[in-house]
Amino acid sequence: MQNFAVLASGRGGNLQAIINAVKSKKIKANLKVVVSDKADAFALKRAKKARIASIYVAPKDYTDRQSFDCKVLECLREYKIDFVVLAGYMRLLSAHFIRQYPNKIINIHPALLPSFKGINGIRDALEYGVKITGVSVHFVNEEMDAGTIIAQETVKITSKDTLKSLAQKIHKVEHKLYPEVIGWFAQKRLKVIGRKTVLR
Ligand code: GRF
Repeated sequence: MQNFAVLASGRGGNLQAIINAVKSKKIKANLKVVVSDKADAFALKRAKKARIASIYVAPKDYTDRQSFDCKVLECLREYKIDFVVLAGYMRLLSAHFIRQYPNKIINIHPALLPSFKGINGIRDALEYGVKITGVSVHFVNEEMDAGTIIAQETVKITSKDTLKSLAQKIHKVEHKLYPEVIGWFAQKRLKVIGRKTVLR
């Protein structure tokens, strides 16, 4: 089985869904370590509770993005990590990091890419007035939220939706879709052909 790491900066709702899916063997891979750039990330608490190694790397100890990423890469090497899952990780990865894991870093975005990239995907879609938004899971490349798309699912926006209600709907879809996609990846069912990902 392959080893993987989750990088998270926040609440860790997706991390929890992933932990549960590993436990129930929906994801057939070992979640070896959770790394965070935030000391107080609730994601770290979730990892500890599940007895998964958790590491905080303090950005202030590093002069630039690449040296910070080198420390994270060192942690990943220590745990013999084969692939990396970003779950609410609020930092852009350096080109150096991405080159170490080509098509082996997965991210989830709370909108239908290529629309509403960036950190406020849910709010931006709501404010724009689209009637359909959703969730995208994609490979990470050097451009933000622009890697090959693996899977997408739609979420309807109604006139009654608030940021809170829409966020709830999005997170519900995320927590189902992300473990499923990671499961496909772990079983080597994903093949990237140009801009397209094919599920075998
Ligand atoms: C999710 O909405 C995810 O799509 C985005 O950041 C959020 C993280 O939430 N990248 P959580 O920490 O997994 O609860």
